[in-house]
Amino acid sequence: MFDLRRLQAPEMHSRSHALFRQSWQILDPHLVEEGPQLRPFVMLPGLLDEPLVRTPWALLPNVCTHRGSTLVEAPCQQRSLRCPYHGRRFSLAGRCEGAPGFEQLEGFPSGRDHLPEIQVEEWGPLRFASLDPGTLFQDIRAELDPWIGALVERAGQVLLREEDHHISANWSLYVENYLEGLHLPFVHPELSRALSLSEYRYETLKCGTLQIGTASAKQACLQLPKGHPLEGQRIGALYVWLWPNTMINVYPWGLSINRVEPRAADEMVVRYHTWVLDHISSRQDLSSVSQTEAEDQQIVRRVQAGMRSSLVGPGTLHPEHEAGVVAFRRRLAEALRPGSVE
Ligand code: FES
Ligand SMILES: [Fe+2]
Repeated sequence: MFDLRRLQAPEMHSRSHALFRQSWQILDPHLVEEGPQLRPFVMLPGLLDEPLVRTPWALLPNVCTHRGSTLVEAPCQQRSLRCPYHGRRFSLAGRCEGAPGFEQLEGFPSGRDHLPEIQVEEWGPLRFASLDPGTLFQDIRAELDPWIGALVERAGQVLLREEDHHISANWSLYVENYLEGLHLPFVHPELSRALSLSEYRYETLKCGTLQIGTASAKQACLQLPKGHPLEGQRIGALYVWLWPNTMINVYPWGLSINRVEPRAADEMVVRYHTWVLDHISSRQDLSSVSQTEAEDQQIVRRVQAGMRSSLVGPGTLHPEHEAGVVAFRRRLAEALRPGSVE
């Protein structure tokens, strides 16, 4: 079984570079708003450190194909991307359209002089991007659609919250904590009252895991579409974890996204995006979600502190209640094997 303490080593942090490059990452909502603006950003700072720019037409490297200057420093409105170094100009779709001094050069521009477009996929209010997709996005959708496809499409009406939380712990601890319900009665007393814990269930998927929270009496339930595998049941929430670092939580009032970004071996940022069906009725639900998040952060910090122990190692996992944790560790072990590229 993979020992998470190995991830505390800086070289293991660097080794996780490949697995994140191949994964699908949800883009921040403000990056994908409609509009004429160019929006530069860095994908996964501290790990991938990939400089990108979102234009109205494409997601592109924010780096000139000549000698590598960045193209845009801050959000701005321009009809093309002009490099500040030697004046090379790119269309907003990434084509090299002019390069002072190179006019007579034979064979210019060639394929490598244009900016390569990065694949972006839409799903309801969410936009996913991958630098080097290890899995087809359609395959992920095919697996998730029967469970949450229609719910994601209709949940994202209003973006209510976009918030970052820094946690001094390795990213894998946050993911592991998410993957089991055993901690619910101890860490989340309020959430535990809203769910019927004896009916809490897990499904292991190829792209991640699904946890099914049955609502306790008097709690609001998801309006499941016709033909849904759980049709007719009182479901309070569906919790999807997508390998390696994305969580999609579907509630009766909307959608809460958690993206766990590794910054260093013992540093992460969790980005929370909350989409609601309408502002007013979800106020109470949102304060419960924030409370649950704070409780999870607190316990993850304690586990990080426990990682220092030289006397206590990885414990026995419950094969059923912690099946998601087991699957995560197996997958990590495989992805981080020396020389392994998923
Ligand atoms: S680095 Fe961009 S034109 Fe030279
Ligand atoms: Fe939790």
